[in-house]
Amino acid sequence: MRAAHPVAFPALRMSRRPVQRVPRLGVLVRDATLLRGVLMDTQHFSKTGPGAPSDLWTPVLGPTVLLNMEGADHLALRRKLGPLFAPAYVDPLVAASLPSTQLTERLRSGEAVDLVAEAKRNASIMISQLVGLPANQVDDALFERVSSITRFVRLSRPRLTASQAAAARGILADLTTHARAAWREGDEATVPGRMRALGLGEDEAMGAVGAFVLTGTETLVSYIPRLVALLIDSGWMPRLADDESLTEPAIAEGLRVTTPSPVMLRSVVGDTAIGPVEVRPGERVILATFMANQAAGPFDPEANPAASLKQLWFGAGTHFCLGAPLAMAQTRATLGAILDAGPVRIVSRRAARGVLIPSYASLVVAT
Ligand code: HEM
Repeated sequence: MRAAHPVAFPALRMSRRPVQRVPRLGVLVRDATLLRGVLMDTQHFSKTGPGAPSDLWTPVLGPTVLLNMEGADHLALRRKLGPLFAPAYVDPLVAASLPSTQLTERLRSGEAVDLVAEAKRNASIMISQLVGLPANQVDDALFERVSSITRFVRLSRPRLTASQAAAARGILADLTTHARAAWREGDEATVPGRMRALGLGEDEAMGAVGAFVLTGTETLVSYIPRLVALLIDSGWMPRLADDESLTEPAIAEGLRVTTPSPVMLRSVVGDTAIGPVEVRPGERVILATFMANQAAGPFDPEANPAASLKQLWFGAGTHFCLGAPLAMAQTRATLGAILDAGPVRIVSRRAARGVLIPSYASLVVAT
């Protein structure tokens, strides 16, 4: 986290109060109950408005991409997209993007595998499915182009500059060229074609594709290697191999202590208070989910303090992560493939610098 945000994270960590106003940043909330209260209260807090995600993403993705919408339109779009994240659709998507037996065999044969490269490749295959690209056009450059967009974002900078927004639009326009063609052809074997069958118009479908690409790829590329490192460092990996029932709590605990989407933003839209702090319309609220989650204690799949947090790492209320089933399926599949390979150790690791989502730049493991 420090490598990704050398200034913001240490500054946020200095705060001990559950909620406090921080000059130039906004109202910082670090208590899980207060944070959930903000997420559930759509009357006073919104994802559209000054300092909210709409300021960042509307100039890039347009106005109707879930993460910058509220109210009836937001609900209607979520309902239409729901079937895409049902197990019947998610499982084949994960199976296609994750040759997990290959990963097991490579590790068993003694190969040292960079799990970040592996996760990036899997994410790129997933992006290619989402945007309707042929698999042979998938490479690291695709992932790098997506992450070059999120790299523009900083907590201290609520909006992209005009040139950053233009660059981001260019990258997404390029990616969605294929998605548009797939939507127009209406081929239900592709995600855009399926979106059309679910009743999404062309622009709605392109907005959803953009939102999936931006929200769903880096979070997973961050989380899966961090989970594996955590399990190896803490000595829990062999215990998981012995007792399968610990796998689900270990994944939840890993999500809790790493919180791949570390911060959520809202704009105040009506006079109210967060705990003892009164807030006014137009103020920016920074929900420091990573701090709320980490306050529940150290990583412990047995005691499983994550259970009391109701998946706060995926948000809460109307904007709860739509891709959570996909994220969970991909994590289970990768972790399962690694556990099947036998005991693994870390050969080398390097933290990523200057990124939005704290991650490893590489994590090489071997049996
Ligand atoms: C470990 C992986 C992931 C984590 C930790 C995560 C976390 C989150 C969080 C915290 C939110 C709520 C943000 C807010 O309320 O401000 C969210 C929303 C969302 N996520 Fe995820 N996410 C993950 C993976 C994915 C994947 C794989 C996809 C899809 C391909 C995805 C798609 C979305 C979408 C579309 C939203 C917006 C939902 C809405 O506004 O209604 N996410 N995610």
